[in-house]
Amino acid sequence: MTKQSLGVCYYPEHWPEDFWAVDARRMREIGLTYVRIGEFAWSRLEPESGRYDFDWLARAIGVLHEAGLSVVLGTPTATPPKWLVDKMPDMLALDAQGRPRQFGSRRHYCFSYEPYARECERIVTALADAFGLHPGVAAWQTDNEYGCHDTVESYSSAARDAFRNWCQRKYGDIAALNRAWGNVFWSMELSSFDQIELPNLTVTEANPACLLDFQRFSSDQVVAFHRRQVEIIGRYSPGRDILHNFMGAFTAFDHFALGRNLDVAAWDSYPLGFLERSNRDEAFKRRFMRVGDPDFQAFHHDLYRACGQGRFWIMEQQPGAVNWAPWNPLPAEGAVRLWTFEAFAAGAEVVSFFRWRQAPFAQEQMHEGLLLPDSEPNEAYHVAAVVARELEAIGARVETECADVALVFDYESAFAWRIEPQGQDFAFLDLILDFYGALRRLGLNVDVVPPAPEALARRKLIVAPALFASSAALTEALAESGAVVLLGPRSGSKTEDFQIPPQLPPGAFRSLVDVAVHRVESLRPGASIAVGDIEGAALLRWREIVAAGAEAEVLLRCSDGAPALTRRDRFHYLAGLPNDALRAAVLRRLATDAGLAILDLPEHIRLRDNGPMRYVFNYGESDFDLSAILRDAPLLLGERRLPPCGVALFRQPR
Ligand code: GAL
Repeated sequence: MTKQSLGVCYYPEHWPEDFWAVDARRMREIGLTYVRIGEFAWSRLEPESGRYDFDWLARAIGVLHEAGLSVVLGTPTATPPKWLVDKMPDMLALDAQGRPRQFGSRRHYCFSYEPYARECERIVTALADAFGLHPGVAAWQTDNEYGCHDTVESYSSAARDAFRNWCQRKYGDIAALNRAWGNVFWSMELSSFDQIELPNLTVTEANPACLLDFQRFSSDQVVAFHRRQVEIIGRYSPGRDILHNFMGAFTAFDHFALGRNLDVAAWDSYPLGFLERSNRDEAFKRRFMRVGDPDFQAFHHDLYRACGQGRFWIMEQQPGAVNWAPWNPLPAEGAVRLWTFEAFAAGAEVVSFFRWRQAPFAQEQMHEGLLLPDSEPNEAYHVAAVVARELEAIGARVETECADVALVFDYESAFAWRIEPQGQDFAFLDLILDFYGALRRLGLNVDVVPPAPEALARRKLIVAPALFASSAALTEALAESGAVVLLGPRSGSKTEDFQIPPQLPPGAFRSLVDVAVHRVESLRPGASIAVGDIEGAALLRWREIVAAGAEAEVLLRCSDGAPALTRRDRFHYLAGLPNDALRAAVLRRLATDAGLAILDLPEHIRLRDNGPMRYVFNYGESDFDLSAILRDAPLLLGERRLPPCGVALFRQPR
């Protein structure tokens, strides 16, 4: 069982060399173990084409290593230097308007531009060769936040040519593509793969099947770009973990696919920035503005644990105010510690703070760090020291087990519903986050899983709303799972080719639920349809008129008599987007049917089990009495009256 520890992100190239040893000593003094460096340093590693300067990096790694820190070395490919852009100006991505994404910040490259990919192979090879066997280098990070700043898609001629090849490999002959895309519609038929254009700058909406394939292609390009670095690092630096730092609320490429080429998935957790940027309403944002959405971080921990086949880190943890959200409040006292333990509760191996010292120059000077720009400790410095001691005291280890509840997350569904929301506020991620939060409010541990048959075994409850396409394999896996299953709305409502399935939605899932969706409607904000006699229960934003077959029992009806929730055997279909009251009632009923022990947690209290260790978190503004949850168990962390931002930990009796 892996010991859980802390780290920090550090930029030796930003500071005079005589700072390094002092910084390293202080990192160790407060109990940090890992230090990530190097991920944006290309202009210092190779100041001119072919002239490497690795000496400073060797000295920096040496200093950190001697101080007892383990280095995570980043590849610098997110920030190609100016000389390289000048050498190959076509490496820049083009936005959907056809404009180049210019030099002057970061991520200014097109994933499909082969000469750039070769330059990346060259610099990664040189670095891996120089440092791959260094005893101080414990792990690698590839690039930085693939896709950040909307950079997955590029509309360059390199992307167009690569997309044509991708389509040719997928479809073989152009007639098959025409059929799959439905190109007879609006005379869009093509006679060769060379005629394919990218789906931007069209007069009105582009063909959704083409858009979906373009998104799949763009996702594959990211995965392939990453894999080239992994192969090199694996060759020169055997035995070191390879990580990538994913983002929150980001679904523009398939992270499960990329995760298959990682030892550990990592993500960058900025709870306050993400809340400000989210679609949550104003009241929610005001209420949680200093502690963050109580479920957002936990959801991503569970998602990325799945992407890393059970292993995940927080590569960047928000330590104070950030600079990039519409508003940038300071965290509440105790919030940084709360977030850190929430990650450890979900099985994080490492939580690494971003960043060591606040930068007094360039883009992120308003972003706090563990130190102020003058090197004096900022708040999170003390927090890190406290948490490091607490981790030691409790002997924190990763002990996560397979959860009884699986919530299915599917990147292709996120692509599909972005292409055709059909109601402008329909978003797959928001829908999943709402289900996730409601399950957590019942005190349940949730695994977020891909729509893969093997992820569904050994579950008691499987919640899989809005999977855009059904498949025979998934249908069979659900049938064999033995779990109580919730499908709908929008499940199986398209084929893989983005067409309405011949047997009508929910496609192959019909054999499980025995309903057929005949009509759908989206509802503007404020409109709702009351459901059953459950207090306040309603459908919002999206509803379906379903015909229930002979084997389907209608459990709940809408006020106009249409089925809202049906059941056939263990399989349920929800014919619309539920409001909070309906979602909670449905999940409570299904969890009970599945034999799960449920709790009634207040809106600001959350639980998470790490093996036998149960954590409780207070995201609210008043104390919470733990007695009912705790019974007689002694507390390893926290108090019986858990204060705001409090973390409690105890061992559950087995
Ligand atoms: C992340 C990024 C870091 C830094 C940070 C600021 O998205 O990986 O390099 O920019 O945000 O919060």
